[in-house]
Amino acid sequence: MSCIYPIGGGKGGIGKSFIAANLGALLARQGNRVVLVDLDLGGANLHTFTGISNIPVGIESFLNKSARNLEDVAVPTNIDHLSIISSVNCSMEITNLYAAQKIKIINALAKLPYDYILLDLGAGTNYNTLDFFLSSYEGIITLTPEPTSVENAFKFIKALYFRKVKQILGQNDFSFYSKQVEMNSNALEVTSQVIDSVLERDPAKGERLLQELRKFKFKFIINQFRKTVGAKLGEKIEKVCNKHFYSEFTFLGNVCYDERVHDSIYSRTIFVNKYSYTVSAIDLSHIVKNLQGNMETAALRTIGHYE
Ligand SMILES: Nc1ncnc2c1ncn2[C@@H]1O[C@H](COP(=O)(O)OP(=O)(O)OP(=O)(O)O)[C@@H](O)[C@H]1O
Ligand SMILES: [Mg+2]
Repeated sequence: MSCIYPIGGGKGGIGKSFIAANLGALLARQGNRVVLVDLDLGGANLHTFTGISNIPVGIESFLNKSARNLEDVAVPTNIDHLSIISSVNCSMEITNLYAAQKIKIINALAKLPYDYILLDLGAGTNYNTLDFFLSSYEGIITLTPEPTSVENAFKFIKALYFRKVKQILGQNDFSFYSKQVEMNSNALEVTSQVIDSVLERDPAKGERLLQELRKFKFKFIINQFRKTVGAKLGEKIEKVCNKHFYSEFTFLGNVCYDERVHDSIYSRTIFVNKYSYTVSAIDLSHIVKNLQGNMETAALRTIGHYE
């Protein structure tokens, strides 16, 4: 069975693509068939992390029907078992996907014949990004220890929640229930207040909502970790999220800041291959182990509500 791991996080420049490329390389090193999918349609650069400069086909060919299947536009990298589906050739029109195009991509992702499918998402909380993230129950949120990044990660999680709750309840019900709470508040409690309000007025609907939210097993990674930061930040965030949201949150680990990441990108070589004995590369290996320890729960999501 394939595992889809979307990698998002709300903020730009925190290392989403770095994490996607390096986890992909480590998983491929184990002999798994891995594909990296660049869904940062307006800012695609994942191919550069993998050292490829010439991308003949990509998501645009799948959307304009010159390629029949999404798997036909996967390009092999110079790492065994690791391929990439790029969006670097997508035009400006394509970067603002129509809903139908988004659904076409999400449905095709679920059919890709790979062991691991890693989705590199763009920054921000636009609906395309949120829906790509929610296309699997196993999304990985990336953040750095900086307060701005932590803040954006919480914003991202709240946006995911509201997007999902709105999809389950429908627009009318969602408007009704969200009017019951102070939606503009920055507090994390707002999400659970909406759900509590549904549970109170319509217990059956509230239970259905909870059942769906509980299927999500979110994970998160703290990247660019430095010694000056409290080592327990990840555990603290895990605790807060598990308290305020009705899904499971697992902290997969820290990845240390290392100047040589910059160098690996310059030389267009995957970091874990060029600097395999660094603390950061070992951190990434631990994360792969933790991810695989979690795998019994990893399941492809069918996208019923889109059909
Ligand atoms: N662990 C790390 N140590 C040092 N530098 C890092 C680390 N991770 C990422 N970087 C640096 O951060 C930069 C941004 O990384 P990356 O492009 O992966 O971020 P992103 O979240 O994908 O950004 P965007 O939102 O623009 O797509 C990289 O160019 C790299 O130099
Ligand atoms: Mg990126």
